[in-house]
Amino acid sequence: MQLEDIETIAVLGAGNMGHGIAEVAALAGYEVRLRDIKEEFVQSGYEDIVWSLEKLAEKEQISEEEAQDAEDRVTPLVDMEEAVGSADVIIEAVPEKMEIKQDVYGEVEEYAPDHAIFATNTSSLSITDLSEVSERPEQFCGMHFFNPPIRMQLVEVIYGEHTDDETIEVIEELAEDFGKSPVRVRKDSPGFIVNRILVPLMNEACWIVEEGEATIEEVDSTTKYDVGLPMGAFELGDQVGNDITYHVLEYMNEVEGEEYAPCPMLEEKVENEELGKKTGKGFYDYE
Ligand code: CAA
Repeated sequence: MQLEDIETIAVLGAGNMGHGIAEVAALAGYEVRLRDIKEEFVQSGYEDIVWSLEKLAEKEQISEEEAQDAEDRVTPLVDMEEAVGSADVIIEAVPEKMEIKQDVYGEVEEYAPDHAIFATNTSSLSITDLSEVSERPEQFCGMHFFNPPIRMQLVEVIYGEHTDDETIEVIEELAEDFGKSPVRVRKDSPGFIVNRILVPLMNEACWIVEEGEATIEEVDSTTKYDVGLPMGAFELGDQVGNDITYHVLEYMNEVEGEEYAPCPMLEEKVENEELGKKTGKGFYDYE
């Protein structure tokens, strides 16, 4: 398949990442089918897109007309057949659990056209393991966006063991057409490039506070004003979602070893559903 053949993109999962990816694709001119398992989830994702487009138009980063056209290109759906039946590319952004993703792929295979490329937005899971559930492992790759997708420039495009070069090339071109800068990741290892660096940093920040060496605010000051990240480690955790960081660490711990064991402080945040901005409370309060 060539980039020119791509008209319709299905985005599975309307959460933080899914709705952001759908918005980026719609702004680039693609017809987007945004799908989630419940009407309320998909409507909430759709409303987030409308909010974001209005905000961008208010700030004159896009015109009113561009915002309206992008909004019109997104169809929120619950039915899987309608979502993927005419899709040229399917981008999966469902929860970061191997079993959930694999269940979704089984359903997708019933309805997706043979030519469709399957791209997963997984933050860390093995592309090879995920692709083996699919009937098209050569047309399967990682397409990892960063939070918030509308603002973050980078997209990791990741090979699984079975991915063919043509799939990677088309997905890189698609990322560029979205206005992003793709980075090719040749080795399918947990966390890929960014999360292999960033997630242990966030975990280490938790250990510093857990062990009483510094407060959350003190750690954030150093990561912002000395290390030079745009946000403090804890602010970033709240932006990404503490559940996401936790799941990435759990997986890295399982595959790579104990040094990646999640800090108890992070585990507690997840147990208390203090997941960050999306729940109104994380390491900081947002209400
Ligand atoms: N759409 C439109 N506007 C939005 C928005 C959205 N989705 N989200 C926030 N905004 C608005 C806010 O409401 C705010 O508006 P007001 O100024 O009117 O209040 C404004 O954007 C904030 O934007 P600014 O440009 O003023 O903020 P900033 O310069 O601080 O940039 C940022 C914000 C881009 C998030 C920046 O802080 C940043 O780059 N942070 C790092 C994020 C990062 O590293 N993300 C990757 C995490 S790793 C990951 O995602 C991978 C994984 O798998 C775990």
